[in-house]
Amino acid sequence: MMTDRLTETATCRSKVRGFHKRALWLSSGAALLALALMGSLEAARPSAGSLLNERLGCAACHGMDGIALSEEIPNLAGQDRSYLIRQLEAFVSSEPEAEPNAGGTERYHTAMDAATRKLSYREREDLADFYAGLSCVPRGDLDPGTAPKAAKACAQCHGAFGINIEPGVPNLAGQKVDYLIAQLRAFRASLLGTDPFRVEQERFHQKMAPQAHSLTDEDIERIAAYYAELSCS
Ligand code: HEC
Ligand code: HEC
Repeated sequence: MMTDRLTETATCRSKVRGFHKRALWLSSGAALLALALMGSLEAARPSAGSLLNERLGCAACHGMDGIALSEEIPNLAGQDRSYLIRQLEAFVSSEPEAEPNAGGTERYHTAMDAATRKLSYREREDLADFYAGLSCVPRGDLDPGTAPKAAKACAQCHGAFGINIEPGVPNLAGQKVDYLIAQLRAFRASLLGTDPFRVEQERFHQKMAPQAHSLTDEDIERIAAYYAELSCS
């Protein structure tokens, strides 16, 4: 009798345990399903940066996927995040009348200054997250040839193949050729003292500008063609 009761209780306990186990399985299964659903909704929902890219009109020049629509406009897909944020800040804070070389970084461009003037801190972060997370378009079998001599010094910061070595430095691989030429000329002009009132574009950076200082037009064209042909990934 006693043994029967004991067995009964034991069976009952194991049933209860079984029930708990099943309940646990069921609830963790439901939780997993909910997570999976949330994940797919998350994937389907455009990010804040993607919405801003479209709504603020950035996409009209830089493309819906960060691949620019013309040769003078930079691709942003896969670009270094902290570099992008610094550029957006530099455009906002710059004034065409400002003394060139006044700070560590100066960047002025008519179209971009207008586009970035009203961006909040949060919007700059969201946009940078979005562009940095996009994949660039890898080049197929284009052969960039060997690096021009004048590009030797660039590798220590921009990497041997145009992919940066440390955050804050832009990737150059696969960038638009005319855009690269314009940037190198702008850096050079800032040190050669070109009148900032007469140029549409102004750019200075304390580490980068000296690198462009002694490049000839021919060097610049060769270097730009080389990096533009490199695969960005
Ligand atoms: C009318 C065309 C146009 C629009 C609209 C525009 N951009 Fe640009 N953007 C440019 C051009 C041209 C440059 C290159 C500027 C230069 O030569 O210094 C540039 C440069 C940039 C850069 C620097 C990239 C680099 O490699 O240094 C970033 C970042 C950028 N744009 C983000 C944006 C964002 C974000 C928006 C929307 C709020 C936007 N742009 C809207 C034309 C545009
Ligand atoms: C000491 C490190 C360093 C070296 C060496 C260097 N760069 Fe840079 N480069 C930078 C940094 C940092 C920036 C970003 C500047 C800014 O924030 O405006 C930059 C920006 C650039 C840009 C603008 C890219 C864009 O998306 O707008 C180009 C083009 C470039 N460098 C080319 C070169 C070339 C060509 C050489 C060699 C002749 C070179 N750099 C050597 C650090 C370096």
